[in-house]
Amino acid sequence: MAVQKRVVSIFFIQLVLLAVSGLNRVDGAGLRTGYYDESCPDAETIALKTIRKAISKDVTLAAALLRLHFHDCFVRGCEASVLLNATKEGDAEKDGFLNLSLRGFDVIDDVKSAIEKSCPGVVSCADILALAARDAVQLTGGLFWKVETGRRDGRISLSKEIDVNLPFSNFNITQLKQNFASKGLTKKDLVVLSGAHTIGSASCFTINTRLYNFTGRSDTDPALDPTFASELKKKCKPGGILPVFELDQGSSTISDAHFYKAVRQNRGLLISDAALLDDHVTRAYVKRQSTSATAGANFGRDFGKSMEKMGRIGVLTGNKGEIRQRCALVN
Ligand code: HEM
Ligand SMILES: *[C@@H]1O[C@H](CO)[C@@H](O)[C@H](O)[C@H]1NC(C)=O
Ligand SMILES: *[C@@H]1O[C@H](CO)[C@@H](O)[C@H](O)[C@H]1NC(C)=O
Ligand SMILES: *[C@@H]1O[C@H](CO)[C@@H](O)[C@H](O)[C@H]1NC(C)=O
Ligand SMILES: *[C@@H]1O[C@H](CO)[C@@H](O)[C@H](O)[C@H]1NC(C)=O
Repeated sequence: MAVQKRVVSIFFIQLVLLAVSGLNRVDGAGLRTGYYDESCPDAETIALKTIRKAISKDVTLAAALLRLHFHDCFVRGCEASVLLNATKEGDAEKDGFLNLSLRGFDVIDDVKSAIEKSCPGVVSCADILALAARDAVQLTGGLFWKVETGRRDGRISLSKEIDVNLPFSNFNITQLKQNFASKGLTKKDLVVLSGAHTIGSASCFTINTRLYNFTGRSDTDPALDPTFASELKKKCKPGGILPVFELDQGSSTISDAHFYKAVRQNRGLLISDAALLDDHVTRAYVKRQSTSATAGANFGRDFGKSMEKMGRIGVLTGNKGEIRQRCALVN
């Protein structure tokens, strides 16, 4: 009887886990590294070559490419909806408010055309985004991880789905955790993936409220180091849109964990970066990665692991979706 009860309760727990994982949509069944080894053996080399060329002309594209993959995965899963153009039916994700400064679309198009020449109709735009994010990080002198492939492309992109799926820069730690959990990602993933903000920049527009109207009373976020705040205010005026500021001043490669040092010193640019100090798990990680004896320990491995997990969100595999001919248009 007791055994039976246990079996029943284990079965029940499994059901719950199944339901939760279905909800969270980090699954990845059907993905594997080297998916194109036979169908398009040069795909990854072509991608790397094309991206290297683009980044050698404009190094800021590396950050843009990393961010594109993130924005893709958080809305409808990693199925390249972020690349689709608006249609007669309405605005696409690109047209939404949080597209703010998304760039790198041309690079993805270049990779796609180059790959199509070798093997037409085989490699998805969603996989190109995942490869581009990895290559971009690697090419800045940073980390390397193996990318699972085998994603297929979706056919829908709606601007209204942006705001309810992507985290905003003014999210507090509770909202960030909820947002990541809704994608099947943990607090650890949250703090590790925020390390992406070691590269790239944010605009004066993004940090304006933090600098000038934090609680609606013409105040500055007290969690921002005052010296840093006044440096920023010299260049970023009330209501200003430009210039842009490095998300992690003084470091531009994700091989290090420099971002966490900045956060710990209250010099993280975004409210969401600073919020990593408000939960014990994320805070402990920030501390470990910014303490000289332990800085950088396992960060490369952690980042690769969390990127792989992010790359599994809501993927279309098997006979779902399609392989787009051009990344901005459904077939
Ligand atoms: C944790 C929640 C996150 C929030 C609230 C957030 C928000 C933002 C914001 C507001 C910007 C600046 C946009 C601008 O002012 O132009 C930005 C930039 C960036 N984000 Fe995030 N982000 C988050 C997580 C991530 C993740 C998970 C990744 C990738 C794995 C990522 C990669 C980047 C990169 C690389 C940039 C720089 C883009 C460029 O320079 O073009 N972010 N993010
Ligand atoms: C997608 O839209 C952009 C901007 O409007 C345009 O430049 C581009 O040609 C479009 N792409 C395709 C394949 O139609
Ligand atoms: C982002 O949205 C704005 C406002 O709707 C639009 O003007 C801009 O062209 C969009 N950016 C991209 C990359 O499509
Ligand atoms: C985070 O923001 C939400 C929504 O504004 C609010 O309800 C909640 O109290 C905030 N939590 C923390 C820890 O500040
Ligand atoms: C500051 O925020 C308050 C409350 O959200 C708003 O009413 C006010 O217009 C803002 N001030 C500026 C200068 O944007």
